[in-house]
Amino acid sequence: MKRVLVATAGGDCPGLNAVIRAIVKRASHESDWEIIGSIQAFNGILWEPTEIKILDEETVSGIHFQGGTIIETTNKGGPFAWPIKDKNGKYTTVDRSEEMIRKLMYMGVDAVINIGGDGSQQISQALYEKGLNIIGVPKTIDNDLSATDTTFGYQTAVQIATDAVDKLVTTAASHNRVFILEAMGRDAGWIALNAAVAGGAEICLIPEIPYDIDKVLEKINERFVRDRGFTIIVIAEGAKAIGKDSSKEKNDEVGYANVKLSGAASRLVEELKQAGIKHDMRKAVLGHIQRGGVPIAYDRVLATQFGVKAFELVLEGKFGEMVSYRHPNIISVPFKDAISKPHFVTKDSDLMKSARGVGISFGD
Ligand code: F6P
Repeated sequence: MKRVLVATAGGDCPGLNAVIRAIVKRASHESDWEIIGSIQAFNGILWEPTEIKILDEETVSGIHFQGGTIIETTNKGGPFAWPIKDKNGKYTTVDRSEEMIRKLMYMGVDAVINIGGDGSQQISQALYEKGLNIIGVPKTIDNDLSATDTTFGYQTAVQIATDAVDKLVTTAASHNRVFILEAMGRDAGWIALNAAVAGGAEICLIPEIPYDIDKVLEKINERFVRDRGFTIIVIAEGAKAIGKDSSKEKNDEVGYANVKLSGAASRLVEELKQAGIKHDMRKAVLGHIQRGGVPIAYDRVLATQFGVKAFELVLEGKFGEMVSYRHPNIISVPFKDAISKPHFVTKDSDLMKSARGVGISFGD
């Protein structure tokens, strides 16, 4: 019997369960493979006692449309930075990667499939360099990986954000208000940009293009005639005014290495007040609603393709690679290429040109 360990790491994302199901279903066509899941990324292996879940056809039956991940996830810690308390009661980290690889050997794990974003695939690369047979599956709602055309979960997030714009349009128009919708996107503004285009927003503010508040106000004012009118602004959580930093919040969660972004929409309200806005404003923050719930069909299909491909890479022994979508093919790329370059919105991209073409202002 050969054994594959599956882990879901980093923030959850609609489609994770469809990947897990596809791995298990594809493996069931081979006679001697067992799939197990590590609970909360690699924590399940690093914990004592070990926490794993047997992933058989019964366990994964019908999970393709469920949000979240049946094996849980975490974006804290990990084998290279395991948090421990030092003698002064302060948290520090230790490298437990060697110990984890030894434990996986002892457990009879022949290969690992790590489903995660750029941070998780950096861990995959480091584990691969230490000799672990590991395959990566890209996961991010932010769509910020350049080694794949797109990732599952992203289109679901765009749909959720677009639905929110559609709902805000009717209330904004009824009240003659400026509405600010804060979408996710810490460094990449893809969700905000797509929701702005799909929803017909007037202004879109993204991390890649710092905004000039006077230009934002100018665009808002164009939309009002004698105080009648409305404006929809979609702002990514990582957006910032020229010369300013993005809005952050302190986070004391042990082992949390990310910067916690929060307050982009509130800050924009204040900046517009200071710039002299005369119209009423309201804001809505979508937050994790964009990561929850049922994946749309597109993401389920892509997730299924990724899961099948990941298991086939295991069969081929093509370790050190991450599954990738290059239209129309599902291919694989070495981890080091997968993590070398993020995928950001660029001013000269066709989508930006189309967005400007329909009159969307980026405040620049
Ligand atoms: O990377 C995906 C993402 O959803 C970002 O857009 C967001 O900033 C971050 O995760 C939030 O993560 P957490 O679950 O830690 O709050």
